[in-house]
Amino acid sequence: MSEAASERVRRIDAWVRAPVRSLKPYYKAPDLPEALRLDQNTNLMGPNPALADLRLGEAESQYPSRDADGLLEALADFHGHTPDNFLAANGGDEALDILVKAFGEAGSTLVTTTPSYSLYPFYPKLAGMRHVEVPLRAGFAELDVQAILAAKPRIVLIASPNNPTGNRFPTGQVQQLIDEVDGVVVVDEAYIEFAGAKASFLPRIEAHDNLVVLRTFSKAYGLAGLRVGWLAANRDLMAKLRVVKPPFNLGTLPERAAIAALDQQEWVDAGVRTVRAERERMRTKLKSLGFRVHPTDANFLLTEPPIDAGELLLALRRKGILARTFPNSPPVRHCIRFTVGRAEHTDRLVMALQEILKP
Ligand SMILES: Cc1ncc(COP(=O)(O)O)c(C=O)c1O
Repeated sequence: MSEAASERVRRIDAWVRAPVRSLKPYYKAPDLPEALRLDQNTNLMGPNPALADLRLGEAESQYPSRDADGLLEALADFHGHTPDNFLAANGGDEALDILVKAFGEAGSTLVTTTPSYSLYPFYPKLAGMRHVEVPLRAGFAELDVQAILAAKPRIVLIASPNNPTGNRFPTGQVQQLIDEVDGVVVVDEAYIEFAGAKASFLPRIEAHDNLVVLRTFSKAYGLAGLRVGWLAANRDLMAKLRVVKPPFNLGTLPERAAIAALDQQEWVDAGVRTVRAERERMRTKLKSLGFRVHPTDANFLLTEPPIDAGELLLALRRKGILARTFPNSPPVRHCIRFTVGRAEHTDRLVMALQEILKP
């Protein structure tokens, strides 16, 4: 780097906020349009029929409603509660940002489990929060409730089903956190549709001052590209989130798509049924190829392959199949994760693995 260029970097570094100096950009998935995407836990059932009727029109010359009111009403109709219990966001990821903006005081503590969704520390670090990682217990099956409470968190982020492990946590353990944490407990239910409706904490939001449920249209609803997620909580907590939420954060098209997708429940349910059947079939096939496969309630399988996970990832990529490894997360460093889709996707993966692993 020339003298002038490094002087410029020095000056810019002096201006940016301290947490930004050491922050790395978030993981960027490989951009291979032709590949079979088993790396992002998205919906592989083809386009949601809701998309077929969407047209760009006169409405797009105006701003959307500030808070996506139409979607909030549709969510309240569909899930119960009232529109002021909901907040719409540009994906669940933006919902996390909004939560941290409201509750993530610099110096206060964020608790996440290890392993969990890799984006979780991103916004809290940016806000200058202290991050405590509490390892999961019993082979990822359980939370260490006492260790989480001992950290005195302002925010706890629990994904249930968890990413990348796939399992749900015992309801009693999550409930104990909600009851005993003096701070906000976010139950991230991005994959809940694959676990069965009864597993959700959504019916409990009005009973607690500190429970926030996070959901997304990116997984079972198949709208990952349109970026629609939402939060649900009691009205008073939600009022605080609404003050920090960027106005117009959901475009007119994503909002209409999400409303229409709520009417395509049969398509969603059929996709969930397919995933539930395929994840068992994929489990059996992978086991017979020498993989250890973790239990799952989601649309993906966390596995321990019989060869080095990084090597396998590259070998699959050469065959046009994307998967996900976790070289920076010690408890799952040796693992590879596969999204579950239709039967033909399982078959293609299994065939590629047979070729790669053949003696
Ligand atoms: C556990 C979990 N939460 C939230 C999200 C965010 O989803 P989105 O921003 O697409 O709504 C993801 C995405 O992979 C996830 O795995």
